[in-house]
Amino acid sequence: MKYFMGIETSCDETSVAILDSDKNVLSNVTFSQIDIHKNFGGVVPEIASKNHLEKIVHVLNESLKIANRKIQEIDMICVTNGPGLLSCLMIGVSTAKTLALINKSNIFPINHLEGHIASCFIENEIKFPAICLVVSGGHTNIYYLKDQNNFNLRSSTLDDAAGEAFDKGAKLLGLGYPGGIQIDRISKLGNKDFHDFPVAELGDSLDFSFSGLKTSLKYYLDKNANWKANMNDIASSYQEAIVKSLIRNIIKATKKFSVKSILFSGGVACNSRLRESAKENLSRYEIIFPSSKYCTDNGAMIAMRGIQKIIENKVQSSLDFPVFSTLRRKKINLILD
Ligand code: KG4
Ligand code: ZN
Repeated sequence: MKYFMGIETSCDETSVAILDSDKNVLSNVTFSQIDIHKNFGGVVPEIASKNHLEKIVHVLNESLKIANRKIQEIDMICVTNGPGLLSCLMIGVSTAKTLALINKSNIFPINHLEGHIASCFIENEIKFPAICLVVSGGHTNIYYLKDQNNFNLRSSTLDDAAGEAFDKGAKLLGLGYPGGIQIDRISKLGNKDFHDFPVAELGDSLDFSFSGLKTSLKYYLDKNANWKANMNDIASSYQEAIVKSLIRNIIKATKKFSVKSILFSGGVACNSRLRESAKENLSRYEIIFPSSKYCTDNGAMIAMRGIQKIIENKVQSSLDFPVFSTLRRKKINLILD
């Protein structure tokens, strides 16, 4: 049996997981900095990297302890090297490289977005071909998957990501950061049909655009001074607009590609209305939502992505790799074969 460690520090979660070669998650320890950053209304990179540095050794030790493994037993170290916040990625990557040097383990750089796709494989057997929607604070991407190592990007957002739309909307409504979870919570008490917030329709394209939506929420709040009386209804309608746009593009994608499964991943995949709406509208397909702990950033998805690539020789162990911040859509090439 071989043991794989996944290290994730691309944003505000410090996470270390250990998986065995049968893909069992032996541990997945995540320290979330949400409570630290909520005072600032968003993630502050300098504060995030400082906290990764302070927490990473503790998280790593805890992960080894729960998995009942010693560091010497770890054969493969998989670490997120981008996209993400540079100063944050550097903490995870420096830790991983140091461990690999001392321990003489193999080390592999892992793309964070590929990690989110891989999160769908932790608890499920996937039937191919499939579509995967990665929907997080920074990305809203649709991928077509021929198999676990053959996939490519089919669409993304032209402006804000869906998670960003949740967070910005929550800010306008005076809810805390991160907003997605707050909007999800109060939406359950509201009427989703209260107001029709418009989301851009981009014709035949599978791309998304959410920047107009928060503007329409702002105009609505400016025009209706007494809006707080209908807070839950407004949040619910706003959430519905985001969910409708996501599901609409997935339905469009199913018309372009013949698929068996539809996978959802990333923090917004925790959203209860998105889960409900997927069941209502996509019942012809196998629908996969990872558990919430694997939707938001976590080390297990990074180790899982490592396993997928390593077993098919798609990546070589090397200490010589950089960190990178964001990929502009036109430069993305995630076709892996
Ligand atoms: O995947 P993730 O943890 O980090 C990134 O890679 O961005 O996603 C974070 C995003 C935030 O925008 C947060 O508001 C959103 O996921 N989120 C949610 C929910 N839980 C987290 N959005 C809607 N409903 C939720 N329940
Ligand atoms: Zn993420």
